[in-house]
Amino acid sequence: MNYRHGYHAGNFADVVKHIALVAILLHLKKKDTAFAVIDSHAGRGRYDLTGAEAGKTGEAEAGIGRLRDDFSGTVPEALATYLPLVRENNAFYPGSPLIAAKLLRPQDRLTAIEKHPEEFAMLKETLAPFRKAQAEEGDGYRRTVKLLPPPSRRGLVLMDPPFEAPDEFSLLAQTVREAWRKFATGIYLVWYPVKSQAQAAGFAGEVLAGGMEKVLEIQTAIPAAEGKLARAGLLVINPPYGFEAGMGQAASLIAPRLGADISVKWLAGAP
Ligand SMILES: C[S@@+](CC[C@H](N)C(=O)[O-])C[C@H]1O[C@@H](n2cnc3c(N)ncnc32)[C@H](O)[C@@H]1O
Repeated sequence: MNYRHGYHAGNFADVVKHIALVAILLHLKKKDTAFAVIDSHAGRGRYDLTGAEAGKTGEAEAGIGRLRDDFSGTVPEALATYLPLVRENNAFYPGSPLIAAKLLRPQDRLTAIEKHPEEFAMLKETLAPFRKAQAEEGDGYRRTVKLLPPPSRRGLVLMDPPFEAPDEFSLLAQTVREAWRKFATGIYLVWYPVKSQAQAAGFAGEVLAGGMEKVLEIQTAIPAAEGKLARAGLLVINPPYGFEAGMGQAASLIAPRLGADISVKWLAGAP
C-alpha cells in the first residue's frame, strides 16, 4: 500500500468526483428521511495543499487552484455548494469523507473505511468533530458489502480505490455487483482511471453484467504529461433525477478553467 492521495488531492479528477458527490448528497437531502453514506476507500479526509506532496505534483494547483475565482451567472446547485466548502481554508483540500460529513444532517450516517494505518489515524482525527460520522480501519471492499443494505434503506456508496493492485478493476467490479445485489436501490459512485477506452469499457461491462438498469458514465480528460493520469471515469449507478443535467451544467463551467474535456453519457437506462 504505497498510494498516498496527498499527491493527487484537489486535482481535476477529485474536483469532478467531489462535485458529483455533492450533487448526490443534495438530492438525498431533499427528503427528511435519513440516509447512509459508505465511503469504502476514504483516505485521510483532509489534505495540506501547502505540503511537500501537493507541491511535488502541482496537481491541486492545476485542479481546484483554477476554481478559486467566482463564476459569473447562474451556478448549478452542486457546484455552488462545493465551491465554498473547498474554499473554507485554501491551505487544505477536503477529501470525500469530510465533504460528506459537512453536508450530512443529524439523522444521516457516514461510515468511512480506510485500510492504511497512518491515513486511518488522520481520518479518525478529521471526523472526530462529527457525531454522525464513523471512521473504520479495514478493507473497504469487504466492509462495504457487509454494511449493506443500510438500516435507512436510502443512501450512497462511494468506491474510490487506489488502483495499485493488478486485479483492482475486477475486484472493484465484483464488489460493486455484490453490493448492488444487496442494495439495488442505492446510489453508487465509482471512480476509475481511464488508461484506454478498451479497458474502461471492459470494466463498465463487467459492472453492468450485474444487471443494473440505470448507469451514467462521466469521463474527464486533461492534457497530461507522459505517465501522468490524463483521463478519469466515474460510474454513477441509479443517478438521481436531474443529476445528468446538473453535472452537464457544472461541467460546462469548470471544463474551460481546468482545460478539460468532460463527457456525460448513459451506459444503461437512457431516459
Ligand atoms: C483514491 S484514495 C481515496 C480518496 C478519497 N475517496 C477522496 O475522494 O478524498 C484511496 C484510499 O484507499 C486506501 N486503501 C487502499 N486499499 C484499501 C482497502 N482495501 N480498503 C480501504 N481503503 C484502502 C488508500 O490508503 C487511500 O487512502
